[in-house]
Amino acid sequence: MADELDLAFERTVRSEARIEPRDWMPDGYRNTLIRQIAQHAHSEIIGMQPEGNWISRAPSLRRKAILLAKVQDEAGHGLYLYSATETLGADRTDLTVKLIEGRQKYSSIFNYPTLTFADMGVIGWLVDGAAICNQVPLCRTSYGPYARAMIRICKEESFHQRQGYELLMTMMSGTQAQRDMVQDAVNRWWWPSLMMFGPPDAESSNTEQSMAWRIKRNTNDELRQKFVDMSVPQAAHLGVTFPDPELRWNEERGHHDFGQPDWDEFWQVVKGNGVCNAQRIAHRRKAHEDGAWVREAAEAHAARQVSKEAK
Ligand code: 3HC
Repeated sequence: MADELDLAFERTVRSEARIEPRDWMPDGYRNTLIRQIAQHAHSEIIGMQPEGNWISRAPSLRRKAILLAKVQDEAGHGLYLYSATETLGADRTDLTVKLIEGRQKYSSIFNYPTLTFADMGVIGWLVDGAAICNQVPLCRTSYGPYARAMIRICKEESFHQRQGYELLMTMMSGTQAQRDMVQDAVNRWWWPSLMMFGPPDAESSNTEQSMAWRIKRNTNDELRQKFVDMSVPQAAHLGVTFPDPELRWNEERGHHDFGQPDWDEFWQVVKGNGVCNAQRIAHRRKAHEDGAWVREAAEAHAARQVSKEAK
């Protein structure tokens, strides 16, 4: 019987059809999805901190409204993705506790500080741009709820990227000090944005299996290359440069050659030793603890509703 179930699962995945919550699936497939979707959800929620930090200091009401809308979108993405993990049998409170206790990861990118308002533009342009490169293929991931969540999330990420680029275009037509602020932010965020795609394929412990299960549709290096090729003309149009002396067009390859991020730095950040890791987790822990009374009240109300209906 198990062989038949396995064969049916493999046939469904190979045929590009979707695996749905009620379908049989190998434990490894389920656990890989919970790991990746939970990490994605955690990243969205933690990612609210670096940008939320600038809402009260936005230079105009328009910029404040845009940033508020973006941070609110990220919260919605996180909740959407936690709902997708629950279709796999995960519990979102359990996932949050694992995040707070360092037993689950979130994207390395959110462990860097946002030092000026230009960072809001560069995060929108490069970080959300990298997210779009990484997440559009996930609209074709084999697990139905994740694929469907990605369609809506990618539409909102496009707004995120455009608002960031427009913010930078405005600053680049400003004073020299504003132009220098933009270039400084690009210098600080370029390499961490390349790290968002994960380690080089040769060091990726999950890619081969995730590709076989069609959870991932491209490798880390493929998407990183796509992001670099997409970003170079955008940087030229903006009038900024990337801090990579090896970055150049390779006619033969039909792609840009580029240098390698500092992978030691990457693994240090992933292990929790980045500039802002402790601050991000402490903030998340406090928010979880401060919200305990709301969860308790909701559970008490739900229990009362059940006992009322039972009478
Ligand atoms: N930050 C932290 N950990 C990372 C990482 C990163 N940027 N890249 C890889 N890792 C971890 C992996 O989780 C894995 O550890 P684990 O097995 O303990 O989970 C290890 O490093 C090896 O990496 P792999 O390449 O083998 O891992 P994956 O196959 O999971 O690939 C990934 C990593 C490309 C990030 C993949 O998980 C993925 O595509 N996830 C979905 C998208 C996502 O999570 N994006 C995060 C950014 S959220 C965001 O963009 C919000 C937007 O609003 C800005």
